[in-house]
Amino acid sequence: MITPAARPEPHCGHDTWYPLAARITNVVQENFNTRTITLEMVDQAQRNDYQWRPGQFNMLYVPSVGEAAISISSDSDKPQVLEHTIRTVGSVTRAIEHMPVGSVVGLRGPFGEGWPIEAIEGKDVVMMCGGIGLAPLRPMVYWLLNHREMCRRVVLLYGCRTPEDRLYADELEQWHEDPRIDVLVTVDNATSQWVGPVGVVTNLLRRIKVSARETVVMVCGPRILNRVGAWSFLQLHVPPEQVYVSLERNMNCGFGRCGHCQYGPKFVCRDGPVFRYSDIHDIFAKEEV
Ligand SMILES: Cc1cc2nc3c(=O)[nH]c(=O)nc-3n(C[C@H](O)[C@H](O)[C@H](O)COP(=O)(O)OP(=O)(O)OC[C@H]3O[C@@H](n4cnc5c(N)ncnc54)[C@H](O)[C@@H]3O)c2cc1C
Ligand code: FES
Repeated sequence: MITPAARPEPHCGHDTWYPLAARITNVVQENFNTRTITLEMVDQAQRNDYQWRPGQFNMLYVPSVGEAAISISSDSDKPQVLEHTIRTVGSVTRAIEHMPVGSVVGLRGPFGEGWPIEAIEGKDVVMMCGGIGLAPLRPMVYWLLNHREMCRRVVLLYGCRTPEDRLYADELEQWHEDPRIDVLVTVDNATSQWVGPVGVVTNLLRRIKVSARETVVMVCGPRILNRVGAWSFLQLHVPPEQVYVSLERNMNCGFGRCGHCQYGPKFVCRDGPVFRYSDIHDIFAKEEV
């Protein structure tokens, strides 16, 4: 029986609104608009204390600009190395894009419920993601590879627009060669060098066998993929209690106080971002909530 660590509490001292100082120690350009930054707490004691679970997120703060919710994308077994993979879409992400190594950002977190580590024991795990959705699932891939004896088959299905848009391209190649995990990547638009599948990520389900009752599913992508992806597994008779989806909503506080991320009767920041499908199916079925 897996006994997961208790949900780590936010490391913001006594005030969860108070950002801690974190320094950018490395930057990797993933594709034309996405970078992975490595953060290290400036304070040694805070660095040593920081624990988190796959699927949790931090609020990253740029003074005079604002805050954005960004998932932790590194290995939770090395909790002091805090990677965040950030796609530039608006004011905060653009500001971080222009910050060189050595710059300091504010960090509040970790927040939210992560992926269901306790539910995977003895099961097959199928992860489906699209675009930036691989970032919140990457810590889960690390966790599964680090604790490979905990479950049966591990499958990662990943879709993106073009081969150049892939996140963690070198790592995907390594995982592809790794017998402990089956990795299938598809692109919407192939280039002449691309020899892999072309088409939407749900099409990859035709290429794998899903033992419905024995499978735990984790889906993370744009809103449309979360819907279509979850429904595709339900159509294959995976029980809704075994399907988990990571949702995005506009965040403000990050810990269930302000109501910005209201999702029906739930708060995405506190009750999610990872939800069990059976817990949200009624609100999920509505187009806009
Ligand atoms: C739990 C969680 C985890 C997340 N993890 C990640 C992650 O790992 N990586 C990541 O890149 N993102 C992640 N996000 C998404 C990220 O938080 C949002 O994209 C965030 O809004 C970015 O902040 P920003 O200030 O850069 O963009 P914002 O300024 O908030 O802009 C966000 C969107 O609004 C649009 N927009 C901005 N200004 C205007 C305007 N004036 N008029 C019309 N549209 C406008 C932008 O085009 C963009 O699409 C996550 C979100 C959540 C909730
Ligand atoms: S962001 Fe404030 S309640 Fe969720």
